[in-house]
Amino acid sequence: MISLVVNGTKHTVDVDPETPLLWVLREHLGLTGTKYGCGIARCGACTVHIDGKPERSCRIPVKEATGKKITTIEGISESHPVVRAWINDDVPQCGYCQSGQVMAAVALLEANPRPTNSDIDTAMSGILCRCGTYQRIRRAIHQAAKASKGAPKAMARARAEAKRGKR
Ligand code: FES
Ligand code: FES
Repeated sequence: MISLVVNGTKHTVDVDPETPLLWVLREHLGLTGTKYGCGIARCGACTVHIDGKPERSCRIPVKEATGKKITTIEGISESHPVVRAWINDDVPQCGYCQSGQVMAAVALLEANPRPTNSDIDTAMSGILCRCGTYQRIRRAIHQAAKASKGAPKAMARARAEAKRGKR
């Protein structure tokens, strides 16, 4: 049995400890917002946060995630400035890569609340988008950064909610 804390909730799953975290999230916990793209840590579609850092869940054996705080797209509040900016700027096209993009953007702004274009390009470069939404992603991250600056309490609340795994 493996114990995991995902979006603030404790789960126990009966799986091979070598099973990739992605499959446990999707198949056992029903958290299908995290996507499978390449399975070899190249595309970023499966990005989740582990102890606040963006990680590729397709390449992490579930045993390595025990005792750590896992956040998936389902754990990011709908009022989070990144989510609001994504909606305002209508960022997704097919949408397949977008949960990975949002998770990477949230982690970027946690680490760097006022990123430059080059900071954004570096932080987001590992999340591939076959639809080419990169310009809108960049704009939305700047928007989210501005919104966060104008509403520090809302951002702090959204961050706290995201950390607790509330929607
Ligand atoms: S599915 Fe994990 S990086 Fe592509
Ligand atoms: S929106 Fe289609 S792959 Fe990114």
